Amino acid sequence: MRKLEGRIALITGAASGIGKGIAITFASEGANIVIADLVTEAQASDVLTAIKKLGREVLFVRTDVSDEASVRAMAAQSLDRFGRVDILVNNAGIFTESLLEDMPIEDWDRVVNTNLRGTFLCTRVLIGQMLERGDGRIINIASQLGQIGGGAVAHYSASKAGVIGFTKALAREVSRRGVLVNAIAPGPIETPLLASETEAWRSAKLAELPIGRFGSVDEVTPTALLLASSDGSYYVGQTLGPNGGDVML
Ligand SMILES: NC(=O)c1ccc[n+]([C@@H]2O[C@H](COP(=O)([O-])OP(=O)(O)OC[C@H]3O[C@@H](n4cnc5c(N)ncnc54)[C@H](O)[C@@H]3O)[C@@H](O)[C@H]2O)c1
Repeated sequence: MRKLEGRIALITGAASGIGKGIAITFASEGANIVIADLVTEAQASDVLTAIKKLGREVLFVRTDVSDEASVRAMAAQSLDRFGRVDILVNNAGIFTESLLEDMPIEDWDRVVNTNLRGTFLCTRVLIGQMLERGDGRIINIASQLGQIGGGAVAHYSASKAGVIGFTKALAREVSRRGVLVNAIAPGPIETPLLASETEAWRSAKLAELPIGRFGSVDEVTPTALLLASSDGSYYVGQTLGPNGGDVML
């Protein structure tokens, strides 16, 4: 028996990287998928084809998670197509680097609005139908930089620490009503986002990582599957860390 048979999972930012890996993993476990991403449908063709090959249904909705009207339209289209969303993965995220004294205010706003406001907006628009059914899973992709901070990424670290705080607060609010909310705080994972890091950042990070290498998307997706499936039924407000030892709690 597949672990997500018949479930409907909506994953933001799933055209690339970790979100793409989660979408394909969930589809291979029997879920039908909504992909909400800023890119065009054509740019998401890899993941759409992979999901169709697995025999699952997939809907792509071009979405800006930081924009309320866009998120509302995305939710309406998803509910219209599938009738419900059982699993929401707030994965869409961006990363830029800048020392604080030089940080453009637009960078702060863009990073916080995508990573934190986007998580709030997508959750807000979809949690009502989960609470009505007394059933749902919300998985927020945070980052280890939200736990330990990082130089030249104060906006990113603040947004991801915000995602962790949001996860804990919401878990306290809704767990008894059947919706389980948790976060994943990956360490450095080889994706286009990590490729945008400076070489100096990459070598400094490699030197301090206990495991001595960056992770792969396939080393994050099992954690998402755990939190989305019945195996994860006693996880509430947790932040799980596939991070190569970057953070040890
Ligand atoms: N790669 C890492 O090392 C790492 C580590 C910790 C946390 N994370 C987090 O994991 C998540 C996925 O990152 P990734 O490494 O796969 O990055 P990625 O750049 O490969 O993918 C991010 C996706 O989000 C989409 N996106 C960006 N802004 C959006 C918006 N406003 N609305 C909708 N979609 C938008 C992009 O189009 C892209 O498809 C992010 O939240 C990131 O912060 C990544």
